[in-house]
Formats: sequence, C-alpha cells, structure tokens
Amino acid sequence: PVTSPVTNPATGPATGSLLVRAARGETVPRPPVWFMRQAGRSLPEYLKLREGTAMLDACMDPGLVVEITLQPVRRYGVDAAIFFSDIVLPLKAVGVDLDIVPGVGPVVAQPVRTLADVEAIPDLEPEHVGFVTEAVRGLVGELGPTPLIGFAGAPFTVASYLVEGGPSKEHAKTKAMMFGAPDVWDALLRKIAGIAATYLEVQVAAGASAVQLFDSWAGALTPADYAERVLPHSARVLERAGRLGVPRIHFGVGTTNLLGLMGEAGADVVGVDWRTPLATAIGQVGDRAVQGNLDPTLVFAPTEVMLARAAEIIDAGRAAKGHIFNLGHGVIPSTDPDQLKRLTEFVQTYEPTG
Ligand code: CP3
Repeated sequence: PVTSPVTNPATGPATGSLLVRAARGETVPRPPVWFMRQAGRSLPEYLKLREGTAMLDACMDPGLVVEITLQPVRRYGVDAAIFFSDIVLPLKAVGVDLDIVPGVGPVVAQPVRTLADVEAIPDLEPEHVGFVTEAVRGLVGELGPTPLIGFAGAPFTVASYLVEGGPSKEHAKTKAMMFGAPDVWDALLRKIAGIAATYLEVQVAAGASAVQLFDSWAGALTPADYAERVLPHSARVLERAGRLGVPRIHFGVGTTNLLGLMGEAGADVVGVDWRTPLATAIGQVGDRAVQGNLDPTLVFAPTEVMLARAAEIIDAGRAAKGHIFNLGHGVIPSTDPDQLKRLTEFVQTYEPTG
C-alpha cells in the first residue's frame, strides 16, 4: 500500500486509451503501437541530452526522465510512453553497489551468492524512489490522454544480474544457484519480487496506466524449471500489480515454450518476441491479449519490406483477444528513427483488406 494516487489510473485521463482497452480485450478500431526501448538509444535528441550524465544519474533526475520519456512520444506519435529508467534502478535505490556500464549493461560490485548476501539487500520503501514519484507525476501531466507504462524487472532476470555480477549469455551461476541452493534461490527471488512489486505500486500510485514486467532472460529455462522455480515469484509481483487496477504486460525473449505459463503467472497481456509466430502465441495464451512482435532488425530492410511484415502481424493479431503492436524486443541502437516514424504511422492507418 502506497500513498493515495494524485491521478487514479482506474479513472484517470488515459483510461479510455487504445492501449488500456486493447490490453483489457475490449474492441478497438486498430491496435495501439509503442516500442520497447523507444526512449533513448537511437534518438539523437536523447544522446545530446545524456551527454556527460551517467545512465543511473539520468534515471534519478526527474527533469531528465520526463524529457527523455516524452521524446519518442513527440517524434513518433506512439500510443504509449514507457517510463525512462532501468530494471536495476530499484536495487541501486536500496543501496546495492552497481553501475550501468555503457555498451555493457548492469554490473554489480559484489555478486550475490549466499543467504547472508540476500538478507543484506534492504526491501524497497516508496521513500527510496521519491524521484520516481516526482517524474511519473510530471509525466502524467504532460502526457494527457497518452498512457504511461510503468515497468519492473522480473525476479529471474534481475537475479541473473545480481548472481552473475553482470550480463551473461548462459546464466550459468544463476542456474547453478537455482538447482544447487534452492533455499538461497527462493529467498533471493522473494526479495526481488517484493522490490519489483513495490516499485510498480509507486509508479501506478503516481499515475502510470499500465505496467510491464520484463523477464527478458526467462527463455533460458525449461518450462518445468520456470513453472517450479520462477513462476511463483513472478506471480506474486503480478498479483500485487493486479490489485492496482491497471493492465499487466509480461514479456520475455525466446519464450516460445513459456508463453502459456507467462500468461498464467497473472498477465493480462503476454509479450511475444519475434521468433514465435503471433498466431502460435495466440493459441498458447488463452483468454489473454498479446503484444508484439516485429523482428527489430526489419527496420534495416527497405521500408516496404518492413511494412509488409507489419501488415502480416496486424492481420494475425486480429485473432487475439487483444493486440498491442510492438517490436519483438527492444529498439536496436543503430535504428533510423525515420523508419520507426513510418512504422508507427503505418500501424495507425493500416486498413486490413478482406
Ligand atoms: O524502454 C525504454 O525506452 C525505457 C527505458 C528502459 C531502459 N532499460 C533504458 C536503458 C527499459 C524499459 C529498460 C529495461 C531493461 N534494462 C531490460 C529489459 C528490457 C530488455 O531489453 O529486455 C534489461 C534486460 C535491462 C538491463 C540493461 N540496461 C541492459 C541489457 C542495458 C544495455 C547495455 C548496452 O548499452 O547495450 C542497459 C542499459 C540501458 N538501459 C540503457 C538505456 C537507455 C543504455 C544506457 C547507456 O549505456 O547509456
């Protein structure tokens, strides 16, 4: 429970937005469109603003956060903003010694290995992230009817950074803990789940209209291991988010075999990466909406090739309970913003034939 919202997202200005309605499975005239990692990375105005400011310092500066979050909304006219931050920000806020190294990603000074290491991580209190409350409130005022998506990293993906000490391909140390020290693993995922849920509550209390839980690296797991060792923790985050009355999006990469479970964890919308045909995903998620899933490298193809693929995805999405158009993972840094502008306009004006 966090202080009462200034803008109640259940009745606030973005309630009638395409994003919220599509997420709830209501009938909408066209799919809403936004892009994961739309803020930052490929925008020249972002790179200019960020000059001389470290990533985490930028995340803790409400003025910068508001401006960076608004940049892609202004440039592309996308149907949602995503809060500019990072999945490791709440850990930084509770005092974990970590940094985001340019071109590398999050690096943790003392990797977590023991129960004592886990217990040394404080729980997140809303006071730790007052700058987030301030930035979200400022944004909601500027965005008007455009919804703001709040987000958090899911327990498995955040645990991977904490246990490995940095980015990893195999997640070998993380999975070694999961298989070999189940008590430490459970305590760690429980800790991260609590932090993630509080972090989402803070964003929604300040006015975010939807939330996305990023379990980017969950695709490293078998369905059985995911179901037994990870899902219960993600479910606790999504359950607490569900009490806030906003739609919940749950996304991971390489999750072809996990989509059903990721829905069952408590999502209203299951995010789909580009490797899974959208029709296959729709068959797996049951009575839930889907989000996705254009291959992010298609922006480097000729425009007409990119748009033809986008049309196929929109057509496939009509079979879903609801469809939010997105890339199948984040915007690649070398992406030409003009391609994303054309893609946005295409999704917003496409008239299916037949
Ligand atoms: O989506 C947005 O535009 C909002 C901002 C956002 C960032 N990170 C900003 C960022 C979001 C939603 C994230 C989430 C995030 N962070 C995820 C889940 C999404 C995904 O891509 O799967 C993950 C796994 C992270 C961890 C992380 N942080 C990575 C892998 C990196 C990239 C390292 C690199 O430089 O290639 C970061 C750093 C980061 N997060 C940057 C930005 C704009 C680059 C910062 C910089 O170095 O200047």
